[in-house]
Amino acid sequence: MRITDSKLLAAITALGVEHKPALALAPLTSLGIGGTSDVLLIRKHEALPALIRLLRESKTPYRFLGGGSNVLLPDSELPWVVLQLARQDPEVRFEGNSVYVDCAAELGRTVTLCAKHDLGGMEGLIGVPGSIGGALRMNAGAYGTQIGTFVREVTVFRAATGRIEILRGAEINFEYRHTSFAPDDIMLAVRLELPSKPYSEILQGIRICNEKRRASQPLNQKSAGCIFKNPPGGSAGRMIDELGLKGHHVGDARVSDRHANFFINAGHASAADMLKLIDDVRSRVRERYGVELEEEVIVWK
Ligand code: EPU
Repeated sequence: MRITDSKLLAAITALGVEHKPALALAPLTSLGIGGTSDVLLIRKHEALPALIRLLRESKTPYRFLGGGSNVLLPDSELPWVVLQLARQDPEVRFEGNSVYVDCAAELGRTVTLCAKHDLGGMEGLIGVPGSIGGALRMNAGAYGTQIGTFVREVTVFRAATGRIEILRGAEINFEYRHTSFAPDDIMLAVRLELPSKPYSEILQGIRICNEKRRASQPLNQKSAGCIFKNPPGGSAGRMIDELGLKGHHVGDARVSDRHANFFINAGHASAADMLKLIDDVRSRVRERYGVELEEEVIVWK
């Protein structure tokens, strides 16, 4: 969506928000899929309440994009303006076993920085792509670790109240790839509490997780990680693999040969190709196993 009203644009930029017109969005996502839209880059969190007020008053629909690693955007021009948080400086601040992290910070980089301060616990999350904010929203997890375990406080913009609020960790429900945040909440910053651990020990854990990941996941290809959540007690990847669907494709959207729950953009896949592949695989799993797979990737529609 394009913002063409010059008064609105002037009011937006007066808030210190950067306007990037008709930006190609595919490069902002790990799948490399998506059309174009105006992007509003938020440099200061405090600008959000006024920005959202302006967008609402002018009836400009918007969506918030985090690190882009778990999202499937539509093709061609999007019917929303896209909001993004600019990276802050510093992104991470330490105070004893507490770590204050800006939500635009990369998860992997944060894990490494914490390790250098002898703070561990998050080793399993090392290879998970995306931002801290995205990890919080999804309660990202891998190798027995979920980020929610360490969350003590989240600073969040609540669209429902139009205000920035601080939620205590205990007020938030963290479940498997699901949290109690509202879909239109925008995560801004978090305080994590991490156990003390010697750097060398954390590094060893990180190495082991990296090796496991490299052995089982297609890390050098464009994907959004696992496309489906695992059903209770089951494995989406194993079911898709057992159906012989590795390499199955719609256009350039392809089931990975390495891990069947990773769907790859093998060239110039469109969102339409990827959605068709998702639906096709889901219905085959339903027919064979009677299981309805739920997407893990967030589909903008
Ligand atoms: N399997 C197959 N064929 C495949 C893929 C997997 O037979 O093509 C089998 C494996 O051999 C294993 C089982 O399925 O016995 C589970 O596979 P894996 O250990 O790879 O774990 P997963 O359940 O597929 C989950 C998370 C990953 C996370 C890994 C490691 C979900 C949906 N996926 O994968 O997270 O990295 O565990 O902890 O929960 C993501 O969320 O995007 C993601 C990649």
